[in-house]
Amino acid sequence: MPNVLILYASTEGQTARIADRIAQTLRHLGHQAEIRAADDLKSGFDPAQYGGIILGAAIHYGHHPAYLRPLVRRCRDALESIPSAFFSVSLSGGGPGAKPEAARRYLDVFLRQVAWHPEQAVSFGGALQFSKYAAWKRMLMVMIVGYAGGDTDTARDYEYTDWAAVEAFSASFAKRLGPS
Ligand SMILES: Cc1cc2nc3c(=O)[nH]c(=O)nc-3n(C[C@H](O)[C@H](O)[C@H](O)COP(=O)(O)O)c2cc1C
Repeated sequence: MPNVLILYASTEGQTARIADRIAQTLRHLGHQAEIRAADDLKSGFDPAQYGGIILGAAIHYGHHPAYLRPLVRRCRDALESIPSAFFSVSLSGGGPGAKPEAARRYLDVFLRQVAWHPEQAVSFGGALQFSKYAAWKRMLMVMIVGYAGGDTDTARDYEYTDWAAVEAFSASFAKRLGPS
């Protein structure tokens, strides 16, 4: 059984990519890591079978996905009894229109709602993936991002994730797991 589970909730794919980099880093450090989409978990999911769990979720319209709240509440006791960590992904968390205080608020609100106190809880910058948005969403994002002072050239995508910070987060988590 893999000793670390990395769960992610991603709409356009950036949170999944970050989950993947965390898994790669943990494996490089000698740990086993499994990645799963959080909306794919079966109801009988038992977190206690893992030595550590990391959950990552993207922000859309000011919130992490609502389905994560009952999931985390159900698993909270198990999460509190093993090394666990949370990462939030948003444009507020990185890039030219970043708003670190908003990114922190998204994260704090979610953790308060589910009464989970992971030792590591961080925000990472996400991505603007105009190529993946429907026309209406592209227009909406240009308006929102333009207002915040961000990038608005819809002919390309933008990535704001600080990969060195993702690797440092993963290495800190690995230390908490003990010897591999
Ligand atoms: C429709 C939409 C709404 C978004 N709303 C917010 C928001 O309220 N605050 C924010 O900081 N970022 C917001 N973002 C940016 C996303 O968090 C960012 O694009 C992230 O990389 C998405 O992660 P994912 O690719 O894993 O879905 C929004 C993005 C989209 C497409």
